[in-house]
Amino acid sequence: MRGIICYYSGSGNTKLACRYIAKNIRNIEIDLFNVVKDNTQFRERYTVVGFATFTDFFGVPYLFEKFIENLTPQNHKPAFVFNTYGIISGKTLKTFVGLVTAKGFNVITGHSLHTPESFPPMIARGLSNKNAPNEKELGKFNNFISELDQSIKDVQDGKEIKKAKINIGFLNSILPKRSRTKAREDMGEKYVDESLCIECGTCKESCPYAAIELNPKPVFDMDKCYGCWACYNHCPQKAIYTKKFRGVGHYPKPNKQLQEKLGG
Ligand SMILES: Cc1cc2nc3c(=O)[nH]c(=O)nc-3n(C[C@H](O)[C@H](O)[C@H](O)COP(=O)(O)O)c2cc1C
Ligand code: SF4
Ligand code: SF4
Repeated sequence: MRGIICYYSGSGNTKLACRYIAKNIRNIEIDLFNVVKDNTQFRERYTVVGFATFTDFFGVPYLFEKFIENLTPQNHKPAFVFNTYGIISGKTLKTFVGLVTAKGFNVITGHSLHTPESFPPMIARGLSNKNAPNEKELGKFNNFISELDQSIKDVQDGKEIKKAKINIGFLNSILPKRSRTKAREDMGEKYVDESLCIECGTCKESCPYAAIELNPKPVFDMDKCYGCWACYNHCPQKAIYTKKFRGVGHYPKPNKQLQEKLGG
């Protein structure tokens, strides 16, 4: 028996956390499936399916919503949901449960992990949370993994697993998900400092919405852009900038502290 985690990770925090989950689950081998790079259906043979993403404007990123919506309907296949967040998750986990349940999965558990911030406007304002998760948060994450492991064992033993009760807390529950139009407007036009750009194509490769063409410098299609900041974060030259943010707040990959905690 095998399990799978389907993940979307802009800067690698979620991917690292998924690897950590996979490493610490004893009762089953877990494969990781990057929904951006391997955008096909995962195979039916998996006993349990995990869904993992980062929080994007208090919700599930558009790309991941679409991935779930396009899955074939399931018949109570056990699933779990997981998200990372930099400051506050909002309704991410609840939305997640709704989306996955609507596809016919039986959501047996879910968890949100506090991680360093990857949203440049927040980092530029000094809200990088570079030491997240703290000891208590890491402890809760480990408990979640142990409970998940036990639930997987119960599934293997043919026991019936109850639907999870996901409690996101009062503060998260009152935060509305922000619209994609607002996210796009917030980021605004993107510009390229031509004196810095080395035409390496990393921005195009990192754009999950195929909104960048190279000519030979990047050209942005604003209709396709979802304001995810991946191009800004990943440009090795810090050549991409917006009206409000230039040369600040980049988070291209999990920081050293997170790598040490999660064994990257
Ligand atoms: C476009 C964008 C929007 C974000 N929105 C939120 C948010 O609403 N709340 C929050 O706590 N963190 C938010 N974050 C931070 C990320 O959720 C967090 O840093 C996460 O761990 C990044 O995971 P990743 O490295 O797997 O992409 C946002 C990050 C980005 C890039
Ligand atoms: S990632 Fe940066 S340096 Fe590379 S092509 Fe894009 S803008 Fe230019
Ligand atoms: S152009 Fe940049 S901000 Fe827009 S969707 Fe692509 S990577 Fe994200």
